[in-house]
Amino acid sequence: MIELYQQQDLVITPPSLGISLRGTIQVPGDKSISHRALMLGAIAKGTTTIEGLLLGEDPLSTADCFRGMGVEISELNSEKVIIQGQGLDNLQEATSVLNAGNSGTTMRLMLGLLASATGKFFTVTGDESLRSRPMSRVIKPLTQMGAQIWGRQNDNLAPLAIRGQHLQAITYHSPVASAQVKSCILLAGLNVAGETKVVEPALSRDHSERMLKAFGAQIDSDLETLTVTITGQNQLTGQKVVVPGDISSAAFWLVGGAIISGSELLIKRVGVNPTRTGVLTILERMGAQITKENEQIIAGEPVADLRVRSSKLQSCRIEGDIIPSLIDEIPILAVAAVFAQGTTIIRDAAELRVKESDRLAVMARELNRLGAQITELPDGLEITGGTPLKGTNVDSYTDHRVAMSLAIAALGASQTTTIHGALAAAVSYPDFIDTLKNICT
Ligand code: S3P
Repeated sequence: MIELYQQQDLVITPPSLGISLRGTIQVPGDKSISHRALMLGAIAKGTTTIEGLLLGEDPLSTADCFRGMGVEISELNSEKVIIQGQGLDNLQEATSVLNAGNSGTTMRLMLGLLASATGKFFTVTGDESLRSRPMSRVIKPLTQMGAQIWGRQNDNLAPLAIRGQHLQAITYHSPVASAQVKSCILLAGLNVAGETKVVEPALSRDHSERMLKAFGAQIDSDLETLTVTITGQNQLTGQKVVVPGDISSAAFWLVGGAIISGSELLIKRVGVNPTRTGVLTILERMGAQITKENEQIIAGEPVADLRVRSSKLQSCRIEGDIIPSLIDEIPILAVAAVFAQGTTIIRDAAELRVKESDRLAVMARELNRLGAQITELPDGLEITGGTPLKGTNVDSYTDHRVAMSLAIAALGASQTTTIHGALAAAVSYPDFIDTLKNICT
C-alpha cells in the first residue's frame, strides 16, 4: 500500500476500507537547532557535544562546510557528535568551494561568519534550488557592516565569493521576519567591536539567541521592540547541546492524525519553543485534538510529548504575526485545510515563494491535481475544504516539505497517488517513509 518506486517515487494506495495512523513515534532532531549547534560548536573554543542531531542532508551540508574550513567534527550520528572548536579566528580558508547543498540556513548563517573572517577568501555554492534563492537579504546588511561579497544578479545569487573584512557594528531594521537574516547578522556581530542590533517586523524563531547565550555570548532580546543586541568579541566556549524533535517534522503526523479518522499518535520529545508553535495554535483553532504532555526544558529549549487524536476540522484564517511561527508548516496546514469544512484563508505568506520551491504555487497546483479547491493569492492561499480527493500523479519539485505534505494528503485520498521526487524528504526527515509504513494500520 505504501511503496517506494525506483528509489524516487512514493506510491500510496489507501485500502478501500480506509486506514488510521496509530502508535508512538519520535521525530528526528530539530533542523534549525542542529545547524546552530554545529556552527557554534565549530567557532567556540573547546569541545562541544551534540545529542540528537538531525542526520538529514541539510545539517550534513553544514558539517561538510565547516570541515572544509578545518574544523574537527566526529562522524555524524544521532547519539553523540563531538566538535573540537578552534575559536572564531581559526576558521581556515577552504581549499575548495563550500557547498551548502539545498540548505538556505547553512548558506545564510555561514555568510555572517565568513564575511567577518578578516583577510580570508571563500567561495560558496548550493544546489539548483539554493542557487535561485535570494541572498541579498543577508548580503545587504553585511555590506552595510563593511563586508565584501560578490555573486550573480548584482550580488544576489550563489555562487558567491567572500573576502573577510573587519566589520563595523550596525543597527539593522530587517524588512522580513526571518531567523536566517537575524542569525546571520548576529553571527557577524560576534566578531565586531560594540553592539550589533537587529530589529524585526515580527518575532522569528529565537534558537540562535538561546544558543548563543548558552555558549557565552553577550546577547540581549527586547521583546517589546523586537530588538536583539549582541556585543561582539566575546569568546564562545564549547557546550553540551541536546536537540529536541523537530516540530516542523511532527507537524506532518499532527495533521495526519487529525484528518485520518480513527487515528491516535503520541509524538515524543518535540521542541515546543513558543516561536515555533504556531502550527499547534492553528490546528487547535481548527478543532484538532492535541494535548501536550510531559513538558520540560532540556538544554535551554522547551520540549513536550504531543498526542493527537482524529477529529472534524473547520476552516480558519492564518495571517499576521503568527506567520513566522509556522512558516515551514504552511504546506501541511494547507493539507489540513483541504480536509476541513469551510474556506481557509492564508495571507502574509509571500515568503513561501522563495523557499526550496515556490510553495504557494506548488501546493496549490499539486493539491488541485488531487481534486482540492485552492486559489493562489499573491501572498497566500484560499482553500475551500471538504471536497473528496482522488489519487493521481503529483510532484514534489524536490522540496522536502511539499513531498511529505502530499504524502499525508494521499492518505486521505481514494485510489493511488504517486509522488514524484519523494526522496527529497531526506533533507529534513530521512526516516519519513519508514515511519509512515509503521504507523499505518
Ligand atoms: C530557518 C528559518 C526560516 C525557516 C527555515 C529555517 C532557520 O527561514 O523557513 O526552514 O533555521 O533560521 P527564514 O529565515 O527565511 O524565514
